[in-house]
Amino acid sequence: EPQIIRDKDQMRRWSRAMRSQGKTVGLVPTMGYLHDGHVSLIREAHNHTDLIVVSIYVNPGQFSPSEDLSTYPSDFHGDIQKLMAVPGGVDVVFNPHNLYDYGTSKNANANEAARASDDARVGNGGNGAVSCVEENGLGHETWVRVERLEKGMCGQSRPVFFRGVATIVSKLFNIVEPDVAVFGKKDYQQWRIIQRMVRDLDFGIRVIGSEIVREKDGLAMSSRNVRLSPEEREKALSISKSLSRARLAAAKGQTNCKELRDLVAQAIHESGGRLDYAEIVDQESLEQAKEIRSPVVFCVAAWFGKVRLIDNMEINI
Ligand code: PAJ
Repeated sequence: EPQIIRDKDQMRRWSRAMRSQGKTVGLVPTMGYLHDGHVSLIREAHNHTDLIVVSIYVNPGQFSPSEDLSTYPSDFHGDIQKLMAVPGGVDVVFNPHNLYDYGTSKNANANEAARASDDARVGNGGNGAVSCVEENGLGHETWVRVERLEKGMCGQSRPVFFRGVATIVSKLFNIVEPDVAVFGKKDYQQWRIIQRMVRDLDFGIRVIGSEIVREKDGLAMSSRNVRLSPEEREKALSISKSLSRARLAAAKGQTNCKELRDLVAQAIHESGGRLDYAEIVDQESLEQAKEIRSPVVFCVAAWFGKVRLIDNMEINI
C-alpha cells in the first residue's frame, strides 16, 4: 500500500532521505482519476528507478475560469485501489491540498490588491489570459513559460494552459526532487514542453516519454472520457480512426500535409465532432510541416459535446 503524503515539506524530506540511502526516485505527475494510461507510466518508471512517487493534484493554474476545473472527475479512493494493483507497486502518493497557498493571509490580501491594479494596467500574461489561480486572488505570481513551444496547438485555444503545466511541474520537481519523471505522449506538446524546460532551466531530471494507451476500439484513454455520453463516445472514435487512416496513407506515399489534414478534419466533422485543430508538426520543434520528409506527429483536438479530446500519432518516414 502506498504511503500518502499531503505536506510538501514531508514529501521533500522523504525523497531526500531515500536519495541519501542511494535510492533513485521516479515521479509520475497526474491529476488523478487514474486509468491504464497512467498505470503504463508507472510501469515505465519502474524500468528506471528504485522508488516511485505518483502525484495526484488537479492544478488550478492550468485551467482558465471558463474551463472544466469544477467538473474535472476525481475519485481518490478508487485511485489508491488502482495503484495497489500496479505490479511493483507505488511507494508514495503525493496528494497536496493546495500548492498555491503559501500560508500568510495578510500577504494574500496584499497580493490580491496588487493583482487587481496589475490587471487594470497590463492584463495577465500580456494577452488577457487568466488562470483559476489568479481569479481566486491567490498570492502566486511566478510563472514558467516555454515561449515558442507553448504557442501553437493546445496553447492557441488554451492560453494559460502550458504556463500552468510548466509551473506546476517545476514546483513538483522542486518538492519531490526526482531522478526521473515520466510523461505520456498522449499529451505530446506537454511532453515536449517539459523536456525543453528541463533542458533550458538545468533541472537535473531525466524526462521520459511513454507511449499512448488506447481502449480496445482505439479511443485514447483519458480521465475526461467518462464525461462522454455513449453516443459521443462512439462519434469520438472518428479521431483515432482517421488518424490511423492518415498514417496509412502517408506510409503509402501521400506526403502532402494539407491532404492528410483534410482527411482527418472531414472525418471528425462528419462524425459530428467540432475540430479545434489538426496539425502535422515536426516531432521535436513542433513546427508545422507542408510535406512529410522527416519524423512528424499528427496532433488533433476536437470537441464532442462539452468534452474536448486530444490525440496524436507519430509518422516516422
Ligand atoms: P493527466 O491528464 O492526469 O495525465 C497525467 C499523465 O498521464 C500525463 O503525462 C499524460 O500524458 C499521461 N496520460 C494520460 N492519458 C494517457 C494515455 N492514454 N496514454 C499514455 N499516457 C497518458 O497531464 C496532466 O495530468 C497534467 O497536465 C500534469 C502533467 C499532471 C500537470 O498538472
